[in-house]
Amino acid sequence: MNWKSVIETNEVTIASPGRINLIGEHLDYNGGVVLPAAIDLKVNLFFKKNNTQLCNVYSKNYNDGFTIDLGKIAISEMEWHNYFLGVIHFIDQKYPGQIKGFDCVVDSSLPIGSGVSSSAALECGIAKGISLLFDVGLNNSEIITMSRDAEHHFVGTKCGIMDQFAVVMGKANKLIELDCHTQNFKYVSADMSPYNIVLLNSNVSHNLATSEYNLRRQEAESGFNFILKKYPEYQALAHVPLEVMEEFKHELSEVVFRRICYVAKENQRTLLASKHLENGDLEKFGELLFQSHEGLRKEYEVSCSEMDFLVDFAQGFDGVLGARMMGGGFGGCTLNLVHDDATNDFIEETARTYKKEFNIELSPFRVSIGDGVQSI
Ligand code: GLA
Repeated sequence: MNWKSVIETNEVTIASPGRINLIGEHLDYNGGVVLPAAIDLKVNLFFKKNNTQLCNVYSKNYNDGFTIDLGKIAISEMEWHNYFLGVIHFIDQKYPGQIKGFDCVVDSSLPIGSGVSSSAALECGIAKGISLLFDVGLNNSEIITMSRDAEHHFVGTKCGIMDQFAVVMGKANKLIELDCHTQNFKYVSADMSPYNIVLLNSNVSHNLATSEYNLRRQEAESGFNFILKKYPEYQALAHVPLEVMEEFKHELSEVVFRRICYVAKENQRTLLASKHLENGDLEKFGELLFQSHEGLRKEYEVSCSEMDFLVDFAQGFDGVLGARMMGGGFGGCTLNLVHDDATNDFIEETARTYKKEFNIELSPFRVSIGDGVQSI
């Protein structure tokens, strides 16, 4: 495929954003409340029909391409191929025969594997692009669930709904307060001036991420199933109050007990954080971010030494209201709420100290909150 010509003559162009999450980590698959938003960094996808039964995909970032035969969709060894394979599979299952051959070029400004959900951005971008190219007419909810299903069954991460939801429903300057159990949501103002949202990409991504992520999900589910035997009325783990969890302290393993207590506490923190935001109380909001990190580090155990170091450093820095690791964990980015006047110094000093400690370059970036996936 001549990818330059696909970009020049494409029929559909999609811009699909990454996401941040202010607070409410590992709550989506536990039926809790989360506070994500789409960001201004995006994956761009250029689509063009090719009148065959083959889909040719080329990634500018990987400088690599591959071809999918629509008659032979199966899971690939190559992780990034599975985003396409999975989304095509689920669209084709619901709308058989509508997808025909196409050429697609992917060009991403999102750092890969760093907790800003380049995966959901890609999946939702593929779904939206294919839908427009072949007039499949997918609605937002179909794009969200088919992308999530692709992640579960082709990529292999048993993720929740937060990332795909934020990528599709994101709105400029708004956070999404999403109840992941009902999928009811409301937009809340993301105005935090004079504070900036600064992401620090640790540039580490530990390869345990997928298996440990799936394990956390299993641990939380096993705790919930145990509670359900006595309290069948609860619809989701995040709905179980901490006092009720305490009753099971000696019946559950120490690890499972710690995991479920984290879920109850993080859900409380998220609801409270949203109130503080509404009242403009950014100091209290920031304090909850630090607490969230402590929970992720000690109770849910999804952090790592590099991110702990970054959060500890931020906590001691004047002008930083809050900081925590973001996303699935085991590497990726920390999210920091930093005063305008302190932002440059904070970025410089953190990068210097981090390099000294780990001999790794830090990639800091400021993000603004943008719209969800769209054709441009
Ligand atoms: C990953 C998953 C999400 C969510 C977060 C943790 O980003 O894809 O579904 O579970 O981790 O909050």
